[in-house]
Amino acid sequence: MKIFLDTADTKEIKAADDIIQLDGVTTNPTLIMKAGRDYNEALKEICSIVKGPVSAETVSLDADGMVKEGIAFSKIAKNIIIKVPMTIEGMKACQKLTQKGIKVNVTLVFSANQALLAAKSGAFIVSPFVGRLDDIGEIGMDLVREIKQIYDNYKFKTQILVASIRNPIHVLEAAKIGADIATLPYSVFEQLFKHTLTDAGIKRFLEDWDALNKTLKKK
Ligand code: E4P
Repeated sequence: MKIFLDTADTKEIKAADDIIQLDGVTTNPTLIMKAGRDYNEALKEICSIVKGPVSAETVSLDADGMVKEGIAFSKIAKNIIIKVPMTIEGMKACQKLTQKGIKVNVTLVFSANQALLAAKSGAFIVSPFVGRLDDIGEIGMDLVREIKQIYDNYKFKTQILVASIRNPIHVLEAAKIGADIATLPYSVFEQLFKHTLTDAGIKRFLEDWDALNKTLKKK
C-alpha cells in the first residue's frame, strides 16, 4: 500500500520523507489554509520534495471552471494531479481532464455508487473519506471494502485512496482490505512507528548494557 501525507505543510512533508520515502501528497483548501501559504507556491515546493502524485484541489463548482483550474495546476509540475469533487460537474471535468492526459483524483466520495461513477469517468484515483463517515455514526471502512469489491469485479484501474484517516486502525484496515493508497495526517504517520513494547525493550537493553559496563569496570 502506498503511503501519502495529507498536508500542505512542507516541514511535515520533508520530515516524513526523511523517514520513509513518501509515495505522494494530498492537499485541499482546508490544509492550505492551515499552512497559511499561497497554494501554487506550496504545490511547487511539495513537488520538489516528493516525486509521486501531489493532489491539488479545484474550487470551482462548474466543469469548465474545474478544467481551467486543473490545466493551470498541471503546469506547476509533472506530478500534479487534480482533485475534483464527486458531483455531476466534477465528473464532466474528470472526463475532460483525463482526455487531456491530466490525472484526476475524485474527492469527497461517501458511497460505493459514487466510486463506481468516478471509475467510469476515468478517475485515476478515488478518495473515500472514512473518518467523516465514522463521525456521523457510519463505518467508513465498509465503504472501502465495497469499492474494492466493485473495482475488482469489473477490473477498474482507478486506485482507491483512503482519505480522512484519523488513527492507525484506519491504516491497518486499509492495508488489510487491499486499498492502493492511504493518505495520513502527520500525527497518524508518527503514531505508526510507536509501540510501548518497543520503548520498553530499548529501555531494558540500555539498562542491561549499563549494568554490564559497570560490572566490567569493577573487575
Ligand atoms: C484527502 O485527500 C482529504 O482531503 C483529507 O483526507 C480529508 O480529511 P479530513 O476529513 O480529516 O478533513
